[in-house]
Amino acid sequence: MKLLIAYSTKHGTTAACVERLTRALRGMEVHTARLETETPNVREYDLVLLGGSVYFGRFRPALRQFLKENEAALCEKPLGLFWCCGRTEDHEYYGEKLFPRSLRERAFAQIFFGGTLRIREAGLWERILLHSMRSAILESEINDGEYTPTLPTVLPESVDMMATYVREAARRL
Ligand SMILES: Cc1cc2nc3c(=O)[nH]c(=O)nc-3n(C[C@H](O)[C@H](O)[C@H](O)COP(=O)(O)O)c2cc1C
Repeated sequence: MKLLIAYSTKHGTTAACVERLTRALRGMEVHTARLETETPNVREYDLVLLGGSVYFGRFRPALRQFLKENEAALCEKPLGLFWCCGRTEDHEYYGEKLFPRSLRERAFAQIFFGGTLRIREAGLWERILLHSMRSAILESEINDGEYTPTLPTVLPESVDMMATYVREAARRL
């Protein structure tokens, strides 16, 4: 049973989720492919996990291109979908909007892995945007009365849940 995890990331949040997922799937034959640097052949795998992070309301170009070129091939595979984003309140909308319906209807799992608004690796314009996204979250918390800042974070339990679904799907093959 060969498993492909194809993903897109810019600053490493999604990559960290994929690393955790790979560890959770130890014992299985897993190939991870960062789509910015590698274009895997979906047909070589028995099961595929696919995902990435959201920038300006879209997946990054490498994932968009991969989805466009491989939609038909992906439809023939047991498929799990995942995504990361900073506006956690919008994650359902992104999941529905950014993956083609044909894939969503066939997927055995569609899981939001959380996200971060980490500034460290960002360039100047990204820093400005990230600061404003962080401020919007923190200020809305203040306005709500009690001050409990909840910046987005990766959700390890969601990553582990994907691993559980993958093992179940692999048993059905
Ligand atoms: C320039 C920029 C634009 C972003 N745009 C969005 C967005 O439109 N919606 C959202 O929910 N998160 C947005 N984010 C947050 C990212 O989705 C989040 O930081 C994610 O964890 C990045 O994952 P990655 O490091 O794997 O690329 C943006 C972040 C940056 C730096």
